[in-house]
Amino acid sequence: TVYPDQHIASVKVAKRIADIIRSKQEVGEAAILGLATGATPVGVYAELVRLHREEGLSFRNVITFNLDEYYPMQPDAAQSYVTFMNEHLFNHIDIDRDNVHIPDGTLPKEEIHDYCLSYERKIEEVGGLDFQILGIGRTGHIGFNEPGSAPNSGTRLVTLDDLTRRDAARDFGGKENVPTKAITMGIGTIFKAREIILMAWSQKKAPIIKKAVEGDMSSDVPATYLQLSNSVEFVLDEAAASDL
Ligand code: GLP
Repeated sequence: TVYPDQHIASVKVAKRIADIIRSKQEVGEAAILGLATGATPVGVYAELVRLHREEGLSFRNVITFNLDEYYPMQPDAAQSYVTFMNEHLFNHIDIDRDNVHIPDGTLPKEEIHDYCLSYERKIEEVGGLDFQILGIGRTGHIGFNEPGSAPNSGTRLVTLDDLTRRDAARDFGGKENVPTKAITMGIGTIFKAREIILMAWSQKKAPIIKKAVEGDMSSDVPATYLQLSNSVEFVLDEAAASDL
C-alpha cells in the first residue's frame, strides 16, 4: 500500500495496532506485538502515544517482543534499543514492564544460545505474535537478519554487515564504535507472526524496496523471503515506492 506521505501511513499502521489491542481487550485476551526500532516506526509510536493520551487506548493487555538489540549493549546506554523503546513508547503508555521483552545485550557469550531459545519459547508460551512491525535496512535486512540469513532462522547472535554499521555510525559517533554483533529474532521467528507490516519511507529506501518486492528470492536480500508469506503488507510512502 502506497500512501502520499509517511505521516498518513504511520497513522494507518497505528490504527491497525490499536484495533488489534481493542479487539483482544473485548475478549479478555492479551495482544502480542512484535516491535521494531530505527527511524521508520517512530511516527507509529508517536501516534500510539497520542491514542493513549487522547483517546484512552490502554496497553494493560499488551505483551511486546522487540526484534533485536546490539551486542554487547548495556540497556541504559544512549544507543540501546531499550533506551529507544522507552523514549519513543514505553515511558508514555500504561504497559506493564513485565510484559516488555527486548533481547539482552549484556549476557556472556556462552549464555546467548540458551537465552535465544528461551526468547523464542516465551513468544510461543503467550500464544505467538499477533502482529509484527518491520523496517528494512539498506542491506535488505529485517530485524538484524543480514544477507546470508536462512528463511527458517531463529533468534540468534549475528554479525552485522559493514553497510549496516556505516548506517548506524552517526548514532555511535563513528563506525568504529558500532558493535559488530547483535541478537535478532530470526526470519523464521518473524514469519510465525499472524500479520506482518513492513514500512519504508523516503527515496533512500527505494532501491532496496524494489529488490525486496520484485527481485528474485535469495538470502542475498533477506527481505525477499517475505514474498513467501500471505500475511505481509508493505506500507510505503511515494518516495520509497518510486522504483517499483
Ligand atoms: C536497524 C534495525 C532494523 C531497522 C533498520 C532500518 O538496523 N535493527 O530493525 O529496520 O535499522 O532503520 P531505519 O528505520 O532507521 O531506516
